[in-house]
Amino acid sequence: MPADSILKHAFMLCLVLSIALSSAHAEPDYLNKSTAESTSFRNGMVVSEEQIATLVGLSVLKEGGNAVDAAVAVGFALAVTHPRAGNLGGGGFMLVHLSKTGRTVAIDYREKAPLKATRNMFLDENGKVDTERARHSIYSCGVPGTVAGLSLALEKYGTMPLEKVLAPAIRLAEEGFAVTPELRKSLLKAKGRLKKSGESMEIFFKNNGEPPREGEILRQKNLAWSLKEISKNGPGAFYRGTIAKKITAYMKKEGGLITEQDLTSYEALIREPVTGSYRGYSIHSMPPPSSGGVHLIQMLNILERYPLSQYGHNSARYIHILSETMKLAYADRSKHLGDPDFSPVPTAHLVSKQYAKRLANRVNPQKATPSIYVKPGSPPPAGGTDTTHFTVADRFGNVVSNTYTLNFAYGSGLAVAGTGILLNNEMDDFSAKPATPNAYGLIGGEKNSIAPGKRMLSSMTPTIVFNGEEFLLATGGRGGSRIITSVLQVILNVIDHKMSIREATSAPRIHHQWLPDTLYVERETGKDLEARLREKGYEVKRTGPMESAQSVAKTEGLFLGAADPRHPGGLAQGY
Ligand code: GLY
Repeated sequence: MPADSILKHAFMLCLVLSIALSSAHAEPDYLNKSTAESTSFRNGMVVSEEQIATLVGLSVLKEGGNAVDAAVAVGFALAVTHPRAGNLGGGGFMLVHLSKTGRTVAIDYREKAPLKATRNMFLDENGKVDTERARHSIYSCGVPGTVAGLSLALEKYGTMPLEKVLAPAIRLAEEGFAVTPELRKSLLKAKGRLKKSGESMEIFFKNNGEPPREGEILRQKNLAWSLKEISKNGPGAFYRGTIAKKITAYMKKEGGLITEQDLTSYEALIREPVTGSYRGYSIHSMPPPSSGGVHLIQMLNILERYPLSQYGHNSARYIHILSETMKLAYADRSKHLGDPDFSPVPTAHLVSKQYAKRLANRVNPQKATPSIYVKPGSPPPAGGTDTTHFTVADRFGNVVSNTYTLNFAYGSGLAVAGTGILLNNEMDDFSAKPATPNAYGLIGGEKNSIAPGKRMLSSMTPTIVFNGEEFLLATGGRGGSRIITSVLQVILNVIDHKMSIREATSAPRIHHQWLPDTLYVERETGKDLEARLREKGYEVKRTGPMESAQSVAKTEGLFLGAADPRHPGGLAQGY
């Protein structure tokens, strides 16, 4: 290892040791990379897209915290160490399985449209969607939910005080951490957008306009201040106190829509997860306003009707059935999904086995059905890229599966002056105009139109799978519209193809979302397969690594974690 790498590594290890909640109890092996790469662990497991954040979560578990304590600490730490998606200024969804009651709950901390938002706010004078305004302007920011969501999770289901789980994030922001190659690369890529904000430039770029080099220390003083305010005064600091004042002052100055009333009225909600079964396993996932859980279960219901393991993993026949299923689900997404607090979503119908039977009858077993002939199903007779996922499991049997986001990498690119807080650009997840795709190519309808106080539809799919009462796996991922199909394939790989969670996570994936009528396949699947899929009528596009999933599984009493190797920098670590 070159000397500068050794130094950098040593620095990181010292830093994490020093931020461990009780460094006196830290065992020397817990930061040892060879341990990280060993196989399975009995007491707990943390998987995230960023190493320091994983180690922060692990230190909380070792301190005696439960999975929720650790997950909240990871969530706040990622806001510092993985700023492209970890956040205070975004929102997300957390699924929590509680061993004591055997119950799983879903925490919805999705952003909301500001009360001043209007249905056609992203249309220009010709009635066309102004994508610059929808994705990169001050109007693209939804009312953030992360601070409320993480605090609610801790208050309801955690065991540690907020100040304790916030301490590592505060220290990382204040004292800094060594910049990784991934962070530097992402900053270079996002510079064009970050440049519009003085605060963003101050946080992430040096006076010469360059991001810090790999190994340089990134300190975020203003973010440390914000985190300390939350630590001292609770989430109220963000929604009513000192941070709220800075957010509203920034909005006034920039002509943005978020007001004091938006912040004081924001609430994270506890919802019932959407549930289903697949070959005897029970699936718990995120209900609307995410589309993730509904369509995951809908697709599993259709796929259960096929002997997938006999087709063989990633055979042309297998991919054909998966793609046709994906098209049907995404067509329904375009019509039926939105914020259930604004108009009813036919969830029970969409996840029913009867409906899946009807949909399966529409699948041509040999040939691709062109997407123009795939229409959203009728309603029941009676009646985001950049995101990050982390999973935590503890020795008490609790499990947290959490996905949160700013939407694009670094969100809108705009940071609130004096706070170090990047704001999301989640308003683009609304359907700005029917039949006009958003940044992920997703088409939406009336149910996902913009309205004041409404939550925009999401694809985030934090999921937990059980075998009877036993925890089997928890997973979720990043990648906008591709999140749902990534989670689907991780589950199929484990259940149908008997892969370990690591194999299941790394195996090449495919994606189809109805429109555009394109089947995306990762390059590793090979040229022969592409030819066979073309014969079946697919427009095939071979891609580099698709989106990443972060998962934990349990077999024979041992946890096995998988940080997706597609995007380096993540870490699965247990103890
Ligand atoms: N912003 C991506 C999603 O929520 O689906």
